[in-house]
Amino acid sequence: MIEINLSLKTSLILALLAYAINVSTSYQQFLIEDDRLCTPTSIRKVALEAGNLSGLIVSLRNMTTLKENAHKWGDQDFVCKFQVKATEKDSGIFAVIQNIVFRKDKITNECLDYIQYSAVNSTFKSKRYCGQMDADTSLMSMPVSNSFVEPTIVLDVHINISKEPLRPYRILELQIVFTSFRFCFQKLFFDDQQCSPNHTVHCIHKGFINDGYINCPYPGCVDEKECVQKIQSKTKRSALSYEAIVFIALLTTVLFMLGVWLGYKIKKLHNENATISLDNNVVSECIEMDPVPEGIDNPPSYESLFPSRPPVSYS
Ligand SMILES: *[C@@H]1O[C@H](CO)[C@@H](O)[C@H](O)[C@H]1NC(C)=O
Ligand SMILES: *[C@@H]1O[C@H](CO)[C@@H](O)[C@H](O)[C@H]1NC(C)=O
Ligand SMILES: *[C@@H]1O[C@H](CO)[C@@H](O)[C@H](O)[C@H]1NC(C)=O
Ligand SMILES: *[C@@H]1O[C@H](CO)[C@@H](O)[C@H](O)[C@H]1NC(C)=O
Ligand SMILES: *[C@@H]1O[C@H](CO)[C@@H](O)[C@H](O)[C@H]1NC(C)=O
Repeated sequence: MIEINLSLKTSLILALLAYAINVSTSYQQFLIEDDRLCTPTSIRKVALEAGNLSGLIVSLRNMTTLKENAHKWGDQDFVCKFQVKATEKDSGIFAVIQNIVFRKDKITNECLDYIQYSAVNSTFKSKRYCGQMDADTSLMSMPVSNSFVEPTIVLDVHINISKEPLRPYRILELQIVFTSFRFCFQKLFFDDQQCSPNHTVHCIHKGFINDGYINCPYPGCVDEKECVQKIQSKTKRSALSYEAIVFIALLTTVLFMLGVWLGYKIKKLHNENATISLDNNVVSECIEMDPVPEGIDNPPSYESLFPSRPPVSYS
């Protein structure tokens, strides 16, 4: 009881700590399922502020709430449009998807759910982002498939989640980090830092370097030192994919059968040993042990283990 209480306390403290750490990072945070960000009728404007407040995290966290809201909106796709605006002049906006699980149409391979960016006062629209990816791993490959660079201070974001019901036990996931950037050569802001020693064009606020979120849209998550380690462990984990699971299942089966076989062999050997060693009781032992009574896989009898006991005692 005490132990349980203690571990509960520890986990509470840990949770509080995690919360505190989260708070001390300077991102504004919005949830897609929250009608402070997404409403069917209006386009919300989210301002990225200056310096350490120039980052924004938009995520989908609670599918239940999303479904409830979508229901409130009527029988239609959940469409959320919002605008991200940088405050500083001459800034641009990076949008980097940290992770996403959005559905695709199996036949046409088109996105059922998607996120799409567009520039204000222009007909340009980005591709539609959907499917399943993780920034740590997808950023390793070219072309970068999870990021968008908006060179002006306004970025329109359009999220469309299909009304098509989710299959049971499936969830959707999305987390996007928006970061205001400036061109490093301007050297306007003391607190700016280039994305990495090797990426000298774009600068972001230095607080976003090594903060656990990938802000810069270059291959290899350049602004996160920990990332390489993460990539390695992720590839290891993803290597433990379907094939690995099948292999492990097969191995387990084989080992299990081997175990059963060995058990059988050992038991048989044991019986043989018993027959050999128990000179006086040979007959009774054999009668007792060999045809397993009622087909039950019994453990060796007391008598076989302690042969000194008179065989009369059982019947
Ligand atoms: C953000 O910067 C301001 C000063 O520019 C500072 O007072 C504040 O503590 C900083 N916040 C965080 C979370 O670093
Ligand atoms: C999601 O929101 C519902 C209420 O809308 C709440 O009951 C549930 O606990 C939430 N789930 C999570 C995982 O936060
Ligand atoms: C949302 O996507 C669906 C296709 O999945 C499309 O039919 C619909 O027109 C889209 N809604 C908007 C507002 O773009
Ligand atoms: C878009 O166009 C309108 C009117 O043409 C203008 O007032 C507004 O400043 C423009 N916005 C941007 C971001 O260029
Ligand atoms: C930076 O570039 C140099 C030379 O091009 C290369 O040797 C080095 O590994 C790079 N560093 C990183 C972190 O990519």
